[in-house]
Amino acid sequence: MSMPLDSPGRWRRTQLAGELRDGDVGREVVLCGWVDSCRDHGGVIFIDLRDRSGIVQVVCDPADSPEAHVRAGLVRFEWVLGVRGTVRPRPAETVNADLATGRIEVRACEVAILNTARPTPFPLNDAAEVNETTRLKYRYLDLRRPEMQRTLRLRHEVVRQIRQYLHEHDFIEVETPILTRSTPEGARDYLVPSRVQRGTFFALPQSPQLFKQILMVGGIDRYYQIARCFRDEDLRADRQPEFTQIDLEMSFVAREDVMALVEPLVAELFARVRGRAMRRPFPVLSWAEALARYGTDRPDLRVSLELRDLSDCFAGTQFRVFAEALGSGLRIRGLAVPGGGELSRRELDDLVEFARREGARGLTWIRVGSDGWQSPAVKFLSESERERLTAATALAPGDLLVMLAEADAQALPILAQLRVRLGERVGRVDRQEDRFLWVVDFPLLERDPEAGRFVAVHHPFTAPHEDDLDRLESDPLAVRAQAYDLVLNGTELGGGSIRIHRPDVQERVLRLLGMPEAEARTRFGFLLDALAYGAPPHGGIALGLDRLVMLLADVPSIRSVIAFPKTQRASCPLTDAPAPVDPAQLRELGIRLVDT
Ligand code: AMO
Repeated sequence: MSMPLDSPGRWRRTQLAGELRDGDVGREVVLCGWVDSCRDHGGVIFIDLRDRSGIVQVVCDPADSPEAHVRAGLVRFEWVLGVRGTVRPRPAETVNADLATGRIEVRACEVAILNTARPTPFPLNDAAEVNETTRLKYRYLDLRRPEMQRTLRLRHEVVRQIRQYLHEHDFIEVETPILTRSTPEGARDYLVPSRVQRGTFFALPQSPQLFKQILMVGGIDRYYQIARCFRDEDLRADRQPEFTQIDLEMSFVAREDVMALVEPLVAELFARVRGRAMRRPFPVLSWAEALARYGTDRPDLRVSLELRDLSDCFAGTQFRVFAEALGSGLRIRGLAVPGGGELSRRELDDLVEFARREGARGLTWIRVGSDGWQSPAVKFLSESERERLTAATALAPGDLLVMLAEADAQALPILAQLRVRLGERVGRVDRQEDRFLWVVDFPLLERDPEAGRFVAVHHPFTAPHEDDLDRLESDPLAVRAQAYDLVLNGTELGGGSIRIHRPDVQERVLRLLGMPEAEARTRFGFLLDALAYGAPPHGGIALGLDRLVMLLADVPSIRSVIAFPKTQRASCPLTDAPAPVDPAQLRELGIRLVDT
C-alpha cells in the first residue's frame, strides 16, 4: 500500500529542531526531519523529530489538531516529516536534562508526511552494536547517527581551519593529477589502463610527492593540498586504500621551518577540540633514541615506562642464554615495570608465550616480591649482576623486569608492545594528556631482507644529512636522512623531509637503491630534468587527515571519520565496488583476464 505523500513545496523549515531552547517558547516554527522515535501515550502521540542539529520532542494532541494527530498515528521510524507547531515549555516532570532541547517541546498544529521509509536494517541510535559491513552497506542510514554527524562536521571544521591557517601563512592550494605515474611511497599502486594507448597504465598517486616538488621548481614557493592518496596495502584500523593528506611543500626552508609551521597548527586544533593545552614545544627525539627508549619510532609517550639496554649488567655472566647472546654481539634489552610484581604466574607465562609468538626464543622475567627475587633465571644470576640490575633499573619490591636477548629487529618491536600492554596493566598510561613528539634523524636507507637490497626509509627523494653526504657510497646504512615524523599518542600522524634538490645527489641515491641509470631515467627522468633547471632547496610534510580527525574525535578507526570508507577487504559494500566490468570494456582496453 502506498501512502499518499504531502507535497514538500510548502514545507520550508524556519528552524533546526535541535537548536530550539527556552528562548523560543511561544514561537510558531516549521521543522523538517526524520522520525527518531514515536510513542502513543493515551491518545497523545510524541514524536522525536531529528535533523542534523539534534532532536526535539513534537507533541501531537488531538485537542490541538485532530488532523495532525491522525497523521502522526501513521508514522514509523525514519519517515520524513514536516511539522508546524508552537514551542512550549515542558511540564516540569517531563523535562529531560539529557537532551539539549529537553526543557521544551513543539505542540503540532500540522504534520505532513514528506516521505515514508522501509523498516531499517538496524536501529540508528548510537548505542547499537551493528556489524560494520551492514553499516557501510546502508551508509546513508548510518550517516544519520549523531556520532557520524559529529565526526564529519568535525572533519569539515578541521579542514576549514587548516585551509585558513595555511592561507594566512601564504600557501596556495594547487591540485595535482590523479591519473599519473607511480609515486614510490612503499605500497602497491592502483593502476588504471589507458584506452587511447593500449598496454599502458596510469597509476593513482600514493601521494603528490613528485608534483609538489616540481611545483617548487616552478617557483610556487608554498604549496598545499588536501590531497587524495591511493595505496594498495594491507588495511588496519588506521589505514585505508584511499585516504586524504594535508600535503604541503615549501622552498628555501630547513627542517625546523617545516616543524615550526606545523606544530602550532596541530597543537591549536587539539587544544580547541579537546579543550586542553598541549605540552609545547613538542619533544624532538632522534630515531635512534626513540628505538632505544621505546622500541619504536612512533612511541606513545602517555605510557611512562622506558626500555633499557642492560647488556653491561651481564658482562661475564654465567647465565648461558645471555652469555651466548652477548657473545654473538646482541644486546640485552629490558623493561622495568613498577608495580608489575602483582602479575600472576599465569600472566607472566602469557607474556613469554606472546614474545615467542612474535619470534623471540624466550622472555626472561624477574618479579620482585617481599621475599626477594622470583625468576626462572634467578639461580644463574650472581650477586653483583643483581646489584647492577637493581641500580640500572631502580628495581624495587613489587616491581617486574622483563628482558630479551635477541637481535634488535626482533626484540624492539616486542618490547614496544609489552611497554604499552604492561603500562596499561599497571595503570601507567596518562590519558589526561595528548602527547606529541617529533622523531628526526631517521636513517636514509635500510636493507630489505627479502629483496637483499637497500630501500628508502621514507622515500627516494629525501635528502641525506649534509654531514653524511661523503659516506653515501662507503657506509650507506650510517647515512642519516633529513626526515621527520610527527607522532601523537603512538600513531604516526605525519611524515616529511627536506628533499634532494640536486640532480647529481638524486642520481646517487637512486643508484644506491639499485636503480640502474636507464631505469632511473625512464621512471624519474622528468624529476631529474626538473632538478637540473634550477630547483630551489625545498622540503615539506604530509599529515594524515583521516588519522588526525580520528584522534581528535577520539574514535578507534579512521572508517568513522570517512563518509564512504572501504572495508578491511578494500571493498565498498554500498556500491559493491570493485566489480567485474563488461567484457566489451576490457576488449576496448586490450585486456584479457586470466585465471590465477
Ligand atoms: P607518508 O607515506 O609518511 O609520507 O604519509 C604521510 C601520512 O599519511 C598518512 N597515511 C595514511 N593514512 C591512512 N591510510 C593510509 N593507508 C595511509 N598511509 C599514510 C599517515 C602518514 O603519516 N609524500 C610523503 C610526505 C612527504 O614526504 O612530504 C608521504 O606520503 O598519517
